[in-house]
Amino acid sequence: MVDALALVAHRSRRDVYAELLPQIESLLSDESDLIANQANISAVLNDAFGFHWTGFYRVQNDELVLGPFQGPVACTRIPKGKGVCGSAWQQAATIVVPDVDQFPGHIACSALSRSEIVVPYFDAAGAVAGVLDIDSSRLDEFSAEDQFWLEKITALLR
Ligand code: SME
Repeated sequence: MVDALALVAHRSRRDVYAELLPQIESLLSDESDLIANQANISAVLNDAFGFHWTGFYRVQNDELVLGPFQGPVACTRIPKGKGVCGSAWQQAATIVVPDVDQFPGHIACSALSRSEIVVPYFDAAGAVAGVLDIDSSRLDEFSAEDQFWLEKITALLR
């Protein structure tokens, strides 16, 4: 069990992710409860990067339902195919949105959100079980680098 995040200041985002990954693995290794693990992943990512909103939506029947998160109050239910989260679910693939105003059907939970990345996670049968959604108040915040590491992190949710 990790009691506190050990992060060296002034590292590149890649270096921060590389330091975070084994610490998240360690956090999750002692715990099998999905909600507990999503809560701690949200807290770790928020501590490390401080983006506007970091959290999970879980597939419940034909909707995504809000799960553990860090940040302002958010929409509670998102239909399949709607917004960035619902689209990532439908496509079963990560979506990086450099400018949310250019994404048709973007769901504006917060007017401060300018760019985002949504990463699905999968159940044992390979179906999308939910998504990790990270929103930034800056344009063009996320890249293939974030996608690479966040997909490694969400793959730990089993
Ligand atoms: N931005 C998301 C909605 C969820 S909130 O921003 C937390 C979307 O369009 O899917």
